[in-house]
Amino acid sequence: MMPMSGELSLFLTLSGALGMVAVLLFNLVRRRGREEEAEKKRQRRRGREEEAEKNRQRRIGREEEAESKQERKIRQTVSADPWEINHSSIKLGTCLGEGFFGVVYQGLYNNTPVAVKTLRRGTMAPRDFLKEAQIMKTMEHPNLIQLLAVCTEEPIYIITELMKNGSLLDYLKVRVGRLHLNDQIEMAAQVASGMAYLEMKKYIHRDLAARNVLVGENNVYKVADFGLSRVLQAPPMLCNQTNLYYISVGKAIFPLRWTAPEAIANETFTIKCDVWSFGILLYEIMTFGKMPYPNMNDTQVKRMVPDGYRMPCPVDPYCSQDMYNIMLDCWKENKNDRPTFKTLKMSLRNVRG
Ligand SMILES: Nc1ncnc2c1ncn2[C@@H]1O[C@H](COP(=O)(O)OP(=O)(O)O)[C@@H](O)[C@H]1O
Ligand SMILES: *[C@@H]1O[C@H](CO)[C@@H](O)[C@H](O)[C@H]1NC(C)=O
Ligand SMILES: *[C@@H]1O[C@H](CO)[C@@H](O)[C@H](O)[C@H]1NC(C)=O
Ligand SMILES: *[C@@H]1O[C@H](CO)[C@@H](O)[C@H](O)[C@H]1NC(C)=O
Ligand SMILES: *[C@@H]1O[C@H](CO)[C@@H](O)[C@H](O)[C@H]1NC(C)=O
Ligand SMILES: *[C@@H]1O[C@H](CO)[C@@H](O)[C@H](O)[C@H]1NC(C)=O
Ligand SMILES: [Mg+2]
Repeated sequence: MMPMSGELSLFLTLSGALGMVAVLLFNLVRRRGREEEAEKKRQRRRGREEEAEKNRQRRIGREEEAESKQERKIRQTVSADPWEINHSSIKLGTCLGEGFFGVVYQGLYNNTPVAVKTLRRGTMAPRDFLKEAQIMKTMEHPNLIQLLAVCTEEPIYIITELMKNGSLLDYLKVRVGRLHLNDQIEMAAQVASGMAYLEMKKYIHRDLAARNVLVGENNVYKVADFGLSRVLQAPPMLCNQTNLYYISVGKAIFPLRWTAPEAIANETFTIKCDVWSFGILLYEIMTFGKMPYPNMNDTQVKRMVPDGYRMPCPVDPYCSQDMYNIMLDCWKENKNDRPTFKTLKMSLRNVRG
């Protein structure tokens, strides 16, 4: 074996070194390439993120604009619009009906047919009423009666939209056996829809019942009298009077057969009491306006319902088991076990005969 010449070994060493440099360079270039690629990706991602952020800002801008538009509209209708009016701005016409607290007339306001609810003197303090009416006026929903104007000097007038076919209770009573389950579901679903709006607004009705749902043309049903009972007080001359629907406990008045037991026991009204009342309203719809707890007197209702008594499923007229199950859900003893109006709206869609 010939010993390696110095030149050859130098050559080998050099070429080895060159090879190593080449490999290093190659790796370097490759890494740089990868880094550049990654950097480009990062930039692209950042670009996309910036675009998304810009879009988000634009969307928020649009939403804020819409919101302020809506708020402006509300403020305009509530303040600019002279909705606190004199009695002389209203022309009273025929009487539409009479309730516990006063008489309701058809009327003309700005040449528009309206309903005018007149309240007996002493049924509420004008100042309290004006405060409540200001909130009531902001409630706008296709299934709620729109408050249009008020006269806050006694006698208090409440001016609302006119509903051609009167109260749901009267409407049901003259149609015994002539409505189908689909009609009944439609009524219930529209009421639930209006109530879901109040629920979302954290506003409590306190007097939900078929007498306080009004019927318009083309099968439109709207909830009326929301929030009113908050400011109502038993007028002195009515304290001793027994009424079909309302009983007085001290200064407060309750629609006994529609009121959840915890609200009577504790005077703590929540939206869940409205859900209880909705169950009673379903009973009224399914029985074409029967008085709830038909064979019991007030004393029995007051004693037995807190003890767990519940109305049985109506048999004549027939009531669908699905509908009765919804009533029972609304009458759960623990108010937190009762459904929300949002859920009720959806459950009603799936009711079968
Ligand atoms: N906006 C309205 N449009 C048409 N009729 C109405 C309107 N508001 C009330 N009524 C009629 O007046 C009646 C009395 O109403 P109300 O004073 O609320 O008493 P209640 O709720 O005890 O029946 C109702 O049953 C209904 O027939
Ligand atoms: C209401 O009546 C008062 C006094 O009677 C009067 O000053 C006022 O201008 C009237 N307002 C409207 C809106 O008619
Ligand atoms: C309401 O009344 C009108 C006539 O005034 C009638 O045509 C209509 O069928 C009634 N019912 C409903 C649900 O619209
Ligand atoms: C309620 O009735 C009692 C006796 O029946 C009577 O003494 C009292 O004055 C009445 N209260 C009112 C506010 O009318
Ligand atoms: C009454 O309210 C209190 C709290 O305010 C509550 O602890 C109590 O359980 C309530 N009673 C009834 C019967 O609901
Ligand atoms: C209610 O009904 C019960 C049982 O039938 C009876 O004992 C009671 O006297 C009634 N109360 C009233 C106020 O009528
Ligand atoms: Mg009413």
